[in-house]
Amino acid sequence: MARFPENFLWGGATSAAQIEGGRCEDGKGLCHLDYVFYRGPKIPCNFMLKKDYERAKAEEATMNFPNRRGIDFYHHYKEDIALLAEMGFRSFRMSISWTRLFPTGLEEKPDPKGVEFYHNVFRELHKHGIEPLVTMIHYELPIVFVEKYDGWASPEVIPYCVKYLKFLIDEYKDEVKYWLTFNEINMVTAVPWLGGGIILDRYGEIEMPKGFRPFAPLPPQMAERWENASHQALHHQFIASAMVVKYAHETAPNCLIGNMFNLHHLYPETPSPADAYRAHEETEYNMFFCDVMAKGYYPAWIKSYYKKNNINIKWYDNYEQILSEGKVDFISLSYYLSSIVTADPKRQERIGSFIRTLHNPYLETSDFGWQIDPTALRISLNELRDRFNLPIYIVENGLGAFEELGEDKTVHDNYRIDYLRKHINAIAEAIEDGVNVIGYTPWGCIDLVSCSLVSMSKRYGFVYVDADDEGNGTYNRYRKDSFYWYRKVIASNGEDLD
Ligand code: BG6
Repeated sequence: MARFPENFLWGGATSAAQIEGGRCEDGKGLCHLDYVFYRGPKIPCNFMLKKDYERAKAEEATMNFPNRRGIDFYHHYKEDIALLAEMGFRSFRMSISWTRLFPTGLEEKPDPKGVEFYHNVFRELHKHGIEPLVTMIHYELPIVFVEKYDGWASPEVIPYCVKYLKFLIDEYKDEVKYWLTFNEINMVTAVPWLGGGIILDRYGEIEMPKGFRPFAPLPPQMAERWENASHQALHHQFIASAMVVKYAHETAPNCLIGNMFNLHHLYPETPSPADAYRAHEETEYNMFFCDVMAKGYYPAWIKSYYKKNNINIKWYDNYEQILSEGKVDFISLSYYLSSIVTADPKRQERIGSFIRTLHNPYLETSDFGWQIDPTALRISLNELRDRFNLPIYIVENGLGAFEELGEDKTVHDNYRIDYLRKHINAIAEAIEDGVNVIGYTPWGCIDLVSCSLVSMSKRYGFVYVDADDEGNGTYNRYRKDSFYWYRKVIASNGEDLD
């Protein structure tokens, strides 16, 4: 018996900020990610401090901003879509850049050139029989909301955003069936700059410890600001998302809208009840992001968690009704790794929704230390089935690696094939367990700028793009070994994984 349903949506995933380039062309405005500058091939830069932001503005002409270049999809989209079609893609996940349509975010009317660009991309996809899967907001916030406001922590963003989201539905509903509102909505509490355009020391009252780096322990004042601003921002995103889901249900009944969250699978370090409870708590926290969007309400426990942790949310007027009327149609998730949790606070830090994992001796890790665990995906898919009973779209998964183009003009990426094979097997097993998985779009199907590192050095693609961290290179595209392998997987509907 076939393990995958006939109409399974095989494909791949990208985001506008990481592929498009052409950031200042045709009247496009800039978003907060366009101000993240390169610091080195292994240095995370998802956090923005005031002094760095000011430096990025002051030295804008000379600094290296890889997101502004992407892989120049803006000019290569036809060639790129043809490559995806050659692999047999049935689904392509991409995002729309808010500032290509509304350059500052404040305009009354969208820019016609930007509107046309996405029509052209959708036309090209349909020409090849590829269904677009569109993320409305994939880590992009017009820079004015960072400058004038406190990113997503300010409620002022909501009306502008909802206007933009409703425009997307009105304009593209006949070309796009599958939509996601916010990419990895839980990242706003893990990485408030990335997910919410929040500068943590914006108000200047926080003394940064010398040598502060991302994921280092935070000074208490900073932690307080982090928890409050990021959960406030999350609340605003839930509201904007629910408003557009309701609108789409009323005006575009053919469209299906999903949430999107980063799935953490967590194991207790030992069988001790304390470790087990800690893993349970963290799992509930991870699921909370899904609960609100799929069930339409804040679970009772999170309000007591807020109280306990001194998190004071200013609740949006009528928020309970808004959330209950904007429940998503399907669950979507990114999944890369599993983590180990201990009850001993001295041995483990928690920063927002991120757990810094302990080492799992049973798992291998990627070049970047991510613990590879397909079984955890199977377990989580089963749990999601029981919790939500909704279709599940796996819209990110994959292996980031350092790679170079060989003299034979290809990359022999057996490690990626091995990673994907194991994960596809785990998905097939989950489907046999009765989970309704409708599609799989591995991340970075064509090499793109890494989100955490803003570098080209961390590659995920089936297609190699000849570009380096400084923007040198021909930007020519080359098929890796995994390209041919994935083509076979899709052609056999997931039967031939050899
Ligand atoms: C997800 C994001 O968190 O992970 C993507 O939705 C991102 O935007 C991907 O690129 C992989 O992360 P990274 O840091 O390896 O690019």
